[in-house]
Amino acid sequence: MLPHVILHNAASVDGRMDWPNVDLGLYYELAAHWPVDAMLSGSETILAAYAATPADAPAAEPSPEAQTLLVVVDGRGRIHKWTQIRYSPYWRDTIVLCSRATPIEYITELQEQGIAHIIAGDDRVDLCAALEELNARFGVKTIRVDSGGALNGALLRAGLIDEVSVLITPTLVGGTTPRSIFTAPDLTSPDGAIPLKLTHVEQLRGETVWVRYAIVKSDE
Ligand SMILES: NC(=O)c1ccc[n+]([C@@H]2O[C@H](COP(=O)([O-])OP(=O)(O)OC[C@H]3O[C@@H](n4cnc5c(N)ncnc54)[C@H](OP(=O)(O)O)[C@@H]3O)[C@@H](O)[C@H]2O)c1
Repeated sequence: MLPHVILHNAASVDGRMDWPNVDLGLYYELAAHWPVDAMLSGSETILAAYAATPADAPAAEPSPEAQTLLVVVDGRGRIHKWTQIRYSPYWRDTIVLCSRATPIEYITELQEQGIAHIIAGDDRVDLCAALEELNARFGVKTIRVDSGGALNGALLRAGLIDEVSVLITPTLVGGTTPRSIFTAPDLTSPDGAIPLKLTHVEQLRGETVWVRYAIVKSDE
């Protein structure tokens, strides 16, 4: 069974994730709206979040209050600061999603550190199979995606997202690089556009607007 997947992002009015001037306190306050079993991020997001953490920084300790698993797609085996990332600051533990193309040395590195991993897919992580295994092996029923446009895009194009939540900040950013909340190959017809049903709209502090939508699945 697939878990229920919620995409939660902050973006400028033009949908960009770079320089949206996010109130992070508000962003995480809203993220707590869903009592999820796990949070899913891509490797680029985790590398960016921990870029300033020295590789020899003290290991994070597990917190008895932490309820949520951190799940990270790292098909190329790029993340190595697991001792700092694994439990910090809110994670009960971490699971890494890999593919059969992930370097074996990396899988060994994870095993030596006792970090659980899932192998799904040949060249890249098969996100559908990985989500099913998260549910079957680790009991993940709901998962919040906190990632950038690349992982969002792959999940959206694969039809794996159920809800979309965007904190729209009062900024326009512009630019030509692919930094939107949904980065994926261009559509060749409108047929692939994903229909949404508005479920919530609210003006919050700092003139931000919180919108939530349910994805309308073709079988509904
Ligand atoms: N504003 C916000 O709300 C917000 C939230 C989170 C992150 N961010 C920002 O977003 C930026 C990172 O975004 P990003 O889009 O560059 O990276 P990302 O979301 O971290 O996505 C990259 C990950 O997605 C995987 N991936 C991409 N396409 C795939 C596919 N078709 N099948 C399987 N896996 C696939 C990649 O796999 P491989 O492992 O194989 O490379 C990689 O692990 C950072 O700057 C971060 O700060 C913003």
